[in-house]
Amino acid sequence: MKTFIICIQTLCGKITPAGFGSKEDRRFLERWRELTHATLLGAGSLRAGDPEFRDTSGRIPEKRIRAIITMSGRLPLEKNIFNRGPSPIVFCGQDVSNSLRRHLGGRAEVVAVRKREENELDLCQVREILKDKGVSRLLVEGGGRLNYFCLKQGIVDEMLVTVAPKLLTSNRETPLVDGERNLGAPFLDLELISCKCHLRTGELFLRYKVLKGKNSG
Ligand SMILES: NC(=O)c1ccc[n+]([C@@H]2O[C@H](COP(=O)([O-])OP(=O)(O)OC[C@H]3O[C@@H](n4cnc5c(N)ncnc54)[C@H](OP(=O)(O)O)[C@@H]3O)[C@@H](O)[C@H]2O)c1
Repeated sequence: MKTFIICIQTLCGKITPAGFGSKEDRRFLERWRELTHATLLGAGSLRAGDPEFRDTSGRIPEKRIRAIITMSGRLPLEKNIFNRGPSPIVFCGQDVSNSLRRHLGGRAEVVAVRKREENELDLCQVREILKDKGVSRLLVEGGGRLNYFCLKQGIVDEMLVTVAPKLLTSNRETPLVDGERNLGAPFLDLELISCKCHLRTGELFLRYKVLKGKNSG
C-alpha cells in the first residue's frame, strides 16, 4: 500500500494554529482525498477541530474510508465525523476497545490493534487492516504526532507539504513531525519529486519521497 502524509506548515515548520492555508491549498487536499481510498487522522486533530474529509465537490464520499487512531479512547461524540457521512473506523488499543464501542454506540467501527510501545499502536497492522478493506492508497492527514509515528514505523512513502509564507515565534505550536527522537542519524533523507509555487498566495507545494533506510549525519 502506498502511504502519503499531507500537511500545510509555516516556513518555520509549524502546523498549528489551524486554518492558515489558502483556498488553493484546501483544493489540493481535497484532490488528494480523491486520489486515495482512505484518510487516517490522529485523535488530537479530531479533538482540536471538526474535520469531515469532504472532496472537491463538497461531498463526503460514501465509499471512502475515514479512520481515526487513539490510544486514550478520548473521542468527542459530538464531532461531525460521528454524525454525518459513512461511519468512520476507530483504531485503538485492546484495553479501551470495549468501553469505546459502548461510548460510540454504533457510530463507528472500533478495531483493536496491537501495541508497539507503551503509547504507540502498530501502524503496520493498521495498514494491513485497511488493505483488507480494499485500500491501496492511504492519506495520513496529521497531526504532528501521528506523522512522527508513521515515519518512525517506516510506513510513509511520500510527503505532500505545503509551505505557507508565515512565521511563528511561539514554541508551543505543533511541528510537522512531533517526536522525541531523530528518525535518522540525525536526518531522515527525502528526495524532491516536484515543487510548484503559487505566486498569488506565496505557497509552495512540495512533494517528497521518503528515502527509507537512507539517512545522513
Ligand atoms: N497544518 C496541518 O496541515 C494540520 C493537519 C492536521 C492537524 N493539524 C493540527 O495538529 C494539531 C494536532 O496535532 P497533534 O500532534 O497534537 O495530534 P495528532 O497527531 O493529531 O494526534 C495525536 C494522537 O493521536 C493518537 N495516535 C496517533 N498515532 C498513534 C499511534 N501510533 N498509536 C496510538 N495512538 C496514536 C493518540 O491519541 P490519544 O491522545 O487519544 O491517545 C495521540 O495522542 C491540531 O491542532 C490540528 O489542528 C494541522
